[in-house]
Amino acid sequence: MAKEIFYTAVDIGTTKVCALVARVGSEGELKILGFGKTPSQGVQKGRIENLSEAQEAVRICLDDAQRYVSRGVVSGAYVGVSGSHLSCLNIKDTLTDPQDIGGITAHQIQRLLQASYPQVDPSQEVLHIIPTGYEVDGLPGVRNPTGLHAKQVQVEAHVVLGDAAVLKNSVRAVEGNRIPVRSLVAQSLASAEATLTGDEREMGVIMMDIGGGTTDVAVYRHGTPWFSTVVPVGGNQATGDLAEALHIPYYRAEKLKIKFGNALAELVRADEEVVVPGYQGEPQRVIKRRAMCEPLQMRLAELLKLAILRVNQAGLRHMPSGGIVLTGGGAEMEGFRELAQKITGSPVRVASPLGIAGLPAELRKPAFSSAVGVLLWGIKHQGDWKPSRSEPRHTWMRKLLAGRFQRTKEQEPEELPVGGPA
Ligand SMILES: Nc1ncnc2c1ncn2[C@@H]1O[C@H](COP(=O)(O)OP(=O)(O)OP(=O)(O)O)[C@@H](O)[C@H]1O
Ligand SMILES: [Mg+2]
Repeated sequence: MAKEIFYTAVDIGTTKVCALVARVGSEGELKILGFGKTPSQGVQKGRIENLSEAQEAVRICLDDAQRYVSRGVVSGAYVGVSGSHLSCLNIKDTLTDPQDIGGITAHQIQRLLQASYPQVDPSQEVLHIIPTGYEVDGLPGVRNPTGLHAKQVQVEAHVVLGDAAVLKNSVRAVEGNRIPVRSLVAQSLASAEATLTGDEREMGVIMMDIGGGTTDVAVYRHGTPWFSTVVPVGGNQATGDLAEALHIPYYRAEKLKIKFGNALAELVRADEEVVVPGYQGEPQRVIKRRAMCEPLQMRLAELLKLAILRVNQAGLRHMPSGGIVLTGGGAEMEGFRELAQKITGSPVRVASPLGIAGLPAELRKPAFSSAVGVLLWGIKHQGDWKPSRSEPRHTWMRKLLAGRFQRTKEQEPEELPVGGPA
């Protein structure tokens, strides 16, 4: 009988931390066995600022998630990371052999990817090198060159980098609970993994995960990631603005926002009213719901524009035909889809995790896209090559260069045109 494999995902967010334990059965079916969620502590805008608090939040989640599985099943975790220290670049690299590379093997492709490892500042760590396409003897757009004969094969890859010290803190928040980290996963790519359809990836799409403190953005083109970034603004700033506008504490503003918030104030009937509870001996007030929604709309519109500006600055001249996919807890607000449609003129969809049979109802919400995505990413990319943290870079580079192939001169990352929206 084929062996069952267990996977664990930990998603460390600004407002909540969650852990999932899942099993992949002999038929490839995925079953969530355990789930833990707790309010986040010690995390600011996706970045850990108090290690012991973050570690404790991770412990609570892992304990809950492991409650229904036998001891020892959780032997390593995939961990979602975010924060504006994450950046990306697209690279190209080429292998040539004046004779014939021969039937290109998977091993050679892996070596090519290894060789394409970018020169980065030692303070940076490479999180992902994702092959996005191949050019074989001048023929572009080859998705899988395995088995082809050629003199030259060129790989294009999307690379995600992060600040090594910041990432180390995420590793420690999990490993402090005696669970080794198998791999860190950028939350932008994780949420995209959980929400985007194949058609959207092919047509081109902008995915935004609007969390509490950050908005993780991923752009897919021709089926693969092309750009990813983190905007350090999320739903919590909208709550803060509301608290300030109404002169009430943050937690009361959060309750009002969740219950009556609408990201596009004009969608609220002009005569609708809400009761704002009194504070510090003042009586309660009745205000127009539409007026309450205005500061929310302003902040969320600004957030959307900021995210689109980043994508434009990366070189995307037109809104992609697959439109925009919104996810994350912040996208659960009424009217968010309509606001994004109004601002961008594109089709917009609010997405929850898809494609997992039997996903518990509690997890079928936009707020869990990134946690479910970390799990899916871990399962899909477990065999991918990644430089090991324990192996110094010069060691594997030397091993690599001792191989039969020559590398052509290192290429500059593709020059991306900068332009405004269409
Ligand atoms: N129904 C709702 N209406 C409006 N906002 C909501 C709703 N539900 C959740 N939110 C907002 O979503 C945000 C939290 O989203 P999420 O759980 O995805 O964040 P996170 O993953 O913890 O944070 P981050 O991704 O920024 O690190 C909060 O700002 C919260 O107010
Ligand atoms: Mg999140």
